[in-house]
Amino acid sequence: MKERIEIGLMGLGVVGGGVENALREKAADIAKQVGAPLAVKRILVRDPSKKRTCQVQPHLLTTDPQHILSDPEIDIVVEVIGGESPAYDYIKESISRGKHVVTANKEVIAKHGFELLNLAAQHQVALLYEASAGGGIPLIGPLRHDLLANKISAIHAIINGTTNYILTKMALEDIDFTTALREAQELGYAEADPASDVEGIDAAYKLVILAALAFQTQVLLGDVYHEGISRLAARDFRYAKELGYTVKLLAIAKREDNTFQVRVHPTFIPDDLLLAKVNGVFNAVQIDGDLTGRILFYGQGAGAAPTSSAILADAIRVAQNINQGLSQIPQVRLGQTMTARPISEIETRYYLRMTVADRPGVLAQITRILGELLISISSVIQKGVDERAQSAEIVIMTHPAQERAMQQAISQMEKLDVVKEISNLVRVED
Ligand SMILES: NC(=O)c1ccc[n+]([C@@H]2O[C@H](COP(=O)([O-])OP(=O)(O)OC[C@H]3O[C@@H](n4cnc5c(N)ncnc54)[C@H](OP(=O)(O)O)[C@@H]3O)[C@@H](O)[C@H]2O)c1
Repeated sequence: MKERIEIGLMGLGVVGGGVENALREKAADIAKQVGAPLAVKRILVRDPSKKRTCQVQPHLLTTDPQHILSDPEIDIVVEVIGGESPAYDYIKESISRGKHVVTANKEVIAKHGFELLNLAAQHQVALLYEASAGGGIPLIGPLRHDLLANKISAIHAIINGTTNYILTKMALEDIDFTTALREAQELGYAEADPASDVEGIDAAYKLVILAALAFQTQVLLGDVYHEGISRLAARDFRYAKELGYTVKLLAIAKREDNTFQVRVHPTFIPDDLLLAKVNGVFNAVQIDGDLTGRILFYGQGAGAAPTSSAILADAIRVAQNINQGLSQIPQVRLGQTMTARPISEIETRYYLRMTVADRPGVLAQITRILGELLISISSVIQKGVDERAQSAEIVIMTHPAQERAMQQAISQMEKLDVVKEISNLVRVED
């Protein structure tokens, strides 16, 4: 039994500050669970003179990572710096020096998780990352333990609060993307540079992490097809509503025999699905297991307190192990036998919105292209004739079709002189 378990905290921003606060407020309860106090010994920051939201003793702050990495008394490194570099190097060095690591870093885990987990196993230390996907929602733990006996066939997830906030605003207030994004930025829900969120990159990192555990295989970031939400217009939401759908940025992982597909894109989902009712910054992850059936995790995917809940649970777990003399926490063994299916091979339904010349025979030209590529139409709606421009808007819903065929159809339709613009193509999940 150790008298005290020491943490080296790397980062004291939104999440680091939350961890520091919660650790102090809950010190007695945590010590009871661990059997010894869990205390922060050093905190790595960039700028020690910065004003902090949490109360912290100034002498704990350092700008030298070696004050944590080389300190033999530090058992657990909690990395909440974020980004790939230098966080990846610090995690790697911590593991190599025999320290347990708890991280919230989705980018590092998505890009280097496979390598780092192997390194941790080699050095007989734990690498835990519950906070890296879904913030305060328990996802990694259930996938690593409670769902382990299941063959998971699919994950459908809303795992980016910023984009879900923007899409909810667009749906409820009939506003365009730029206005909704600006409001999200004013409220602090979107960053000044929103690219990682709105382009689906943040969701792609999280999907890599979840899909690897769900399918028990290595998933590479390059396997994920990702498409952002900036092409969505207020009219897409109106048409979606009319057709009985809600628009969400979904992260989707599906298993098919020995292959899997992983993709992040705007998606039409039926209004009556529980996922369709997940609004604002909230996240939800729907998992289909062969034993459990469909289950849904819902909650706050970000924020100081929810994220520190996940980090502290991981740190407590490691500390309990240390005090019981157990060095490792069993990890899901990730194979390398499944292969990723490219987006061109998926089959799904589509919503297609285009502006065409308002004259006879246009629809026939479009349906001929679709028909030749074996894409069958489930409904066509003609909207908003612009008499001055002599154009009309057409919305087509298809039956399931191959993505490759759909992309071929789009490029052929773009060449028709009657097609003025292919405004949007959105995949539909029923
Ligand atoms: N924010 C959330 O709600 C949330 C939710 C889930 C997961 N996460 C993940 O948690 C991690 C941290 O996010 P955050 O929002 O807390 O970030 P943040 O507010 O930007 O904080 C980053 C912290 O790391 C420090 N830092 C940055 N670069 C450094 C460097 N090169 N050397 C030393 N210290 C450095 C900063 O020091 P200074 O304070 O001196 O600038 C700051 O304290 C990220 O991986 C993020 O993806 C965040």
